[in-house]
Amino acid sequence: MRKIVKYMGLVAGLLASVHIKAQKAAPIVVQVNEIRAPVSPTMYGIFFEDINFAADGGLYAELVKNRSFEFAEPLMGWDIRIRDNADGNLLIINRGPAYDVNPRFARVTVNNDTEVLAITNEGFRGMGIRKGEEYDFSLMAKMQDGKESALTIEILDENDQLLGKTYLTINSMQWRPFHASLVASGTSKKAKLKLSFTKKAVTDVDMISLFPKNTWMGRPGGLRKDLVQMLADLKPGFIRFPGGCIVEGRDLANRYQWKNTVGDISNRKLIMNRWNVEFKNRPAKDYFQSFGLGFYEYFLLADDLGAEPLPILNCGMACQYNSAEVAPLETLDPYIRDALDLVEFANGPVDTHWGKLRAAMGHPAPFHLKMMGVGNEQWGPQYVERYKIFAKAIHDRYPEIKLISSVGPHAGGALFDYLLPEMTALKADIIDEHYYMPPSFFQDNARRYDHYDRNSPKIFAGEYAAHVKGKEGPEKSSWQAALSEAAFMTGLERNADIVVMSSYAPLLAHVDAWQWAPDLVWFDNLQHYGTPSYYVQQLFSNNKGTDVVSIQQAKQVIAGQDSLYATAVIDKVSKELIIKIVNTSSSEKQQDIALEGIRKIGPDMKVVTLRSGDLDAVNSIQSPENLAPVETLVKINGKKFSLVLPPYSFHVLRLNMY
Ligand code: AHR
Repeated sequence: MRKIVKYMGLVAGLLASVHIKAQKAAPIVVQVNEIRAPVSPTMYGIFFEDINFAADGGLYAELVKNRSFEFAEPLMGWDIRIRDNADGNLLIINRGPAYDVNPRFARVTVNNDTEVLAITNEGFRGMGIRKGEEYDFSLMAKMQDGKESALTIEILDENDQLLGKTYLTINSMQWRPFHASLVASGTSKKAKLKLSFTKKAVTDVDMISLFPKNTWMGRPGGLRKDLVQMLADLKPGFIRFPGGCIVEGRDLANRYQWKNTVGDISNRKLIMNRWNVEFKNRPAKDYFQSFGLGFYEYFLLADDLGAEPLPILNCGMACQYNSAEVAPLETLDPYIRDALDLVEFANGPVDTHWGKLRAAMGHPAPFHLKMMGVGNEQWGPQYVERYKIFAKAIHDRYPEIKLISSVGPHAGGALFDYLLPEMTALKADIIDEHYYMPPSFFQDNARRYDHYDRNSPKIFAGEYAAHVKGKEGPEKSSWQAALSEAAFMTGLERNADIVVMSSYAPLLAHVDAWQWAPDLVWFDNLQHYGTPSYYVQQLFSNNKGTDVVSIQQAKQVIAGQDSLYATAVIDKVSKELIIKIVNTSSSEKQQDIALEGIRKIGPDMKVVTLRSGDLDAVNSIQSPENLAPVETLVKINGKKFSLVLPPYSFHVLRLNMY
């Protein structure tokens, strides 16, 4: 956030540079002592899905792609010099079903001491390497013929300039890990890793890995620090994982199975990422899930962020847009077992089967799992049948666990209209509404929850983003989208008695490897930026307060009249009043504000503004803060003041209460 800390005598003078001729409207009245509802601590969270290379190639800091040769094409991502001739060869060996989890490895044969066999990994659209930083190289290896082999490890930039070099001797007859470290002498976003076998020998290699040492919390084999920091800065109330459609899989075999994502990384069975083939116009044939970022790491991340973990589990239904495969009801047991065992993995004592694994992985303390999702965007009677069985089994054993249930892929239309009453009748805890709609939908739906039946389940606005037509990729993450999301979010907050959770989706996207846009944070191999929508999320989340209070104009909630949207909360802990106002119109407004039901406020008011006169404005790798919040301190005298709201602007006002 850009901070401009200056005191201004008159609030009406705020942003005076754009104060030309403003129309006057009825005053906005905040009734500070009229508490409408507590704001749930989980009100604003994050939705993580491995889409757009968000996990492998993104948050998971591994730099080597296809490290264990388990991609559909075992040498994808690897360039082999001397593939097979008299001087040497490289063979992919598949040990078959007995080694189901990680069957393949590479056998490198060098027949001649003067020959070199080199294999080079291209990384995920290159590797991000920073000058002066240390990198941990490792691999599993063994000698095949009793002769030691010599390995030269080099990091090269895109022009084959050397950025780091080290050596290893492979001298074990049994598989074992070998480690080396390198310090980079230069920076590159498109670096590669070259391994040269320089001695006459036969060497078996697997799990070839290169990680920056400088990961989030310095954890070996951990997460990309800058990206996790972006998530931490959102102060999320929860983190939903692992998605999204990835939970469902294109068919049931391709579904996300958490048990395959925990334990030693070499025992996590890789599968194709469903986004590999989902969009014909955005194919990603090198998109697989290594599960280096698996359920343990998600729980740990939630812990680090102080966010409630929210795993979503497959309920015996594959993606209904794809195969729509379902598991017959009499075969649901393994799916339900997965759900029950997950609670044990997260919360169980260390002497239970799954609690023991959690402890062995480094976290004997429980993760305090309180909720989980049953299916993602499921619909139809098949979902209701399966939900009932899941809900009974989970609640019988763990009555304290709240369940998130689907109401279909859209928060409207026939699928939704069927499921909402069904879920209400079943007394579902929380329903998960999704909206990927044009900006106008978000502005028009700021009142969506004002008249929702208060006896229906609580609401999780689980996936949403405004989709601007006619834009592609990063250009879609525009100010127009963000501004309309801000307008909509005032409606979520005003209805905090029923809306208890919300998350924008998707979260992360690699600028060179995305499938879906818009997204909240874009990144390349070294840099990242938050979109305007990111800053909207951050401003709501970091200013959520503890209780919603009344804010009205002409005795009406402020939800689009004259293009204004507003909400107000108090923070009982910090003793502050927080007002959020969105102006979606192209004209500037001068707005009187009156605070009632409070003894004294001020004398300073913090005003954070996010605005641009250009609805197409975006941030980018080159200009990451083209549009970012600006903070101003102003003096107010009294409980009535006037604000100038420039066109297309979002403001958060914070005032001390006495
Ligand atoms: O967020 C991208 C996708 O949109 C999610 O995987 C899915 O749940 C929704 O359709």
